[in-house]
Amino acid sequence: MAKAMMHLAQFLVHGPTYHSLAMWRHPKTAAAGYDWSRPELYQHIARVCERGLFDMVFFADLNYISDTYRGALDPAIRHATQVPEHDPIPLLSFMAAATKHIGLGATYSISHQHPFHAARLWATLDHLTRGRAAWNVVTTLNHNQSANYGEALRPTDERYDRAEEFVEVCRKLWDSWEKDAVLIDRAAGVFADPAKVHRIEHEGRFYRSRGPLNVTPSPQNGPAILQAGTSAKGRAFAGRHADAIFAIQPNLAGAKAYYDDIKSGTVEAGRRPEACKILFGIQPILGSSRAEAEEKQAEHNALVPLEGGLAILSGHLDFDLSQLPLDTVMAERKEPQLQRMQTRYRTLEGRLLTLEQVARNHGQSVGLPQMVGTAADVADQMEAFFDAVGGDGFMVSPIYSPGAIEEFVDHVVPELQRRGRFRRAYAGTTQREHLMQDG
Ligand SMILES: Cc1cc2nc3c(=O)[nH]c(=O)nc-3n(C[C@H](O)[C@H](O)[C@H](O)COP(=O)(O)O)c2cc1C
Repeated sequence: MAKAMMHLAQFLVHGPTYHSLAMWRHPKTAAAGYDWSRPELYQHIARVCERGLFDMVFFADLNYISDTYRGALDPAIRHATQVPEHDPIPLLSFMAAATKHIGLGATYSISHQHPFHAARLWATLDHLTRGRAAWNVVTTLNHNQSANYGEALRPTDERYDRAEEFVEVCRKLWDSWEKDAVLIDRAAGVFADPAKVHRIEHEGRFYRSRGPLNVTPSPQNGPAILQAGTSAKGRAFAGRHADAIFAIQPNLAGAKAYYDDIKSGTVEAGRRPEACKILFGIQPILGSSRAEAEEKQAEHNALVPLEGGLAILSGHLDFDLSQLPLDTVMAERKEPQLQRMQTRYRTLEGRLLTLEQVARNHGQSVGLPQMVGTAADVADQMEAFFDAVGGDGFMVSPIYSPGAIEEFVDHVVPELQRRGRFRRAYAGTTQREHLMQDG
């Protein structure tokens, strides 16, 4: 039997740091000479990843600068802990203009927006990209973001109840125009058939919207839906709605349990298990020899300040870690805010980590496993992870930009193709078709 094919996505942030806090000052980022705030960098990355036949480029997005660590903005600003972070959505259009096939995904939180705005924005993007748009539906994770919108952070369960209704309203709006409503009958003077455009009259627990949407049906009838969240409600949401999930699961047993849980949730929601692809974050570090790659890893990791790691981890947990001694064994802590990242508190082999180790890992890669070696070594590690977990692919995050992205596409992608583990051409044209392509 042919081995299952991997899906690949490229992780990005519209800012100077992605998962690696060293990225902005890494000598290879500096030598490449791109300005992270200019669209040319992202157009280049999109072309490179399209050459690599990736399913998509994908932007995370946060709407805050965290003061969670020590109650001060200083560490986040000093160490560029995913700060600054420009809005990624305008970039999708720039990247679409420079490419033809690759999917274009971005995070857009539901927590401080109205579904009408989201439905209109994402349907428009789906048109502009000819069906290559993907929306990562998140609910926000830090009180600083809520405060920026004049609100308090709501409990996780309520945020997901809102997300459920938010997507329901968007779907109603995307369906408010029947597929064949647009006629453009110039002779008869009928642009669209009014009988095929409907109000939605939604009156729910959280949202009201009258409709119809003022955007015609887009190629995917709204974007592909992505999700990133680990709570029970987050997983159930993914099972019902997501075409793909971005997951950070550094340890194998955890990744396998997570994978099985999501797939059974997808089936419970009445969908086929392959309808929701799981993309596990990895941070490849490549060298022409294993020793060179290990040297690169050491050089990179040494560039990450511990205080930056503590600040970004505190922000992601929304818990001030300056309260805990550095030798705290994180897996033993009982605070509810610390439970979300349990999987980061152990090594790939399951060894328990101290706060200092977790914070260093978080600063280096936000807990993504570093896969280090030659292209063949990295392909070996990807295959081993993929086969142990069951699928479905990877979200690849660089240690410098755009060089590490180019190296992965030029060296690891051909290696995976030679092994029959990655596509040699795009079979479809839309984001959903790329995610469903299995050969
Ligand atoms: C791997 C991963 C990536 C995430 N990326 C983002 C992001 O870019 N922006 C954001 O606002 N929230 C992000 N989140 C937060 C979640 O979408 C969600 O809002 C939060 O984790 C609370 O849900 P949970 O308890 O189900 O994880 C991410 C979560 C995970 C697990």
